[in-house]
Amino acid sequence: MNELDHAIALLRQGELVAIPTETVYGLAADAANPDAVAKIFTLKGRPSDHPLIVHIAGAAQLDDWAVDIPADARRLADAFWPGPLTLILKRQPHVPDAVTGGQDTVGLRAPAHPLAHALLEQFGGGLAAPSANCFGHISPTTAQHVHDEFGDACPLVLDGGASPVGVESTIVSLVDDTPKLLRPGGIPREDIEAVLGHKLEHHQSNKTAKIRASGLLDSHYAPRTPLILGALPQLIEEAGRRLANGERVLLLHRTAIDAPITGIAQQRLAEDAPHFARELYALLRHHDRQHDILLMEAPPQSPEWLAVNDRLKRAATRHIL
Ligand code: TXA
Ligand code: MG
Repeated sequence: MNELDHAIALLRQGELVAIPTETVYGLAADAANPDAVAKIFTLKGRPSDHPLIVHIAGAAQLDDWAVDIPADARRLADAFWPGPLTLILKRQPHVPDAVTGGQDTVGLRAPAHPLAHALLEQFGGGLAAPSANCFGHISPTTAQHVHDEFGDACPLVLDGGASPVGVESTIVSLVDDTPKLLRPGGIPREDIEAVLGHKLEHHQSNKTAKIRASGLLDSHYAPRTPLILGALPQLIEEAGRRLANGERVLLLHRTAIDAPITGIAQQRLAEDAPHFARELYALLRHHDRQHDILLMEAPPQSPEWLAVNDRLKRAATRHIL
């Protein structure tokens, strides 16, 4: 049996399979099988009222999962699927509560990764899949990361190489009168606005939102070693103070530092947002628990950095200017 057939067989038996997507790896179960979906929450240690995204092969399956689909949703699906965009829509009544967290909406996305796409085409149904990491931890962008998270507890991890986008999908809600950006991600906000023909409202925080989304928690995507973000000159001062305290410091910087600083480990980060995003989670995983403190130069606040800045804000314990 080839790997894809093996994956399909496991999914049909109600087992979990980790799958590569272009954003991050997902922990997938048959979205029509509540017992299978329950295993996702157990393995991740995720609160059961947090809804999951249902992955489908393409826009032709929108009506299998959603009702009252507005024209904007179809326009966005046509423009960006397969790709890193999740649409929140009113759910079909048959969608299990285990998937939606008991809400009357469902998140849908058609991933572009060839292996995920082939799997979905062959499976025919939908796959409920959150990022394949323990709750609150850093999302995985390689098969090895998934093994590191779950070991043998995940029956199969399909290896599709490193995820090329590196941050999760952009989430847009289309259940109210005006479309809302719930999570910045792989598709830039401006590209979505260009298709819609108007600006997207952004829900900044989970504090007042009635929509539950774990990616919106203030502390998420976090390494175990504290991460401090800031401007480079202030970080260099902070590094000096901590070094004097006997701490093992790693300084992650995007702009050049003229001379190495003795006693402080340094790593240069990608200068452009797409490369930075692709490397971010692997980098945080690699350095986690190797140092006492991670000091990272904060990227610019410009639009192309929106998704990266959103994840960094939630991963960081502190921000110094
Ligand atoms: O790129 C991605 O979106 C990845 C890959 C695997 O597709 N998936 C992912 O899943 O990031 P997860 O579960 O880690 O994050 C999905 C987010 C959560 O914050 C969840 O609460 C939100 O989507 N979500 C799912 N269904 C929703 C709904 N009906 N209403 C509001 N938010 C929803
Ligand atoms: Mg996640």
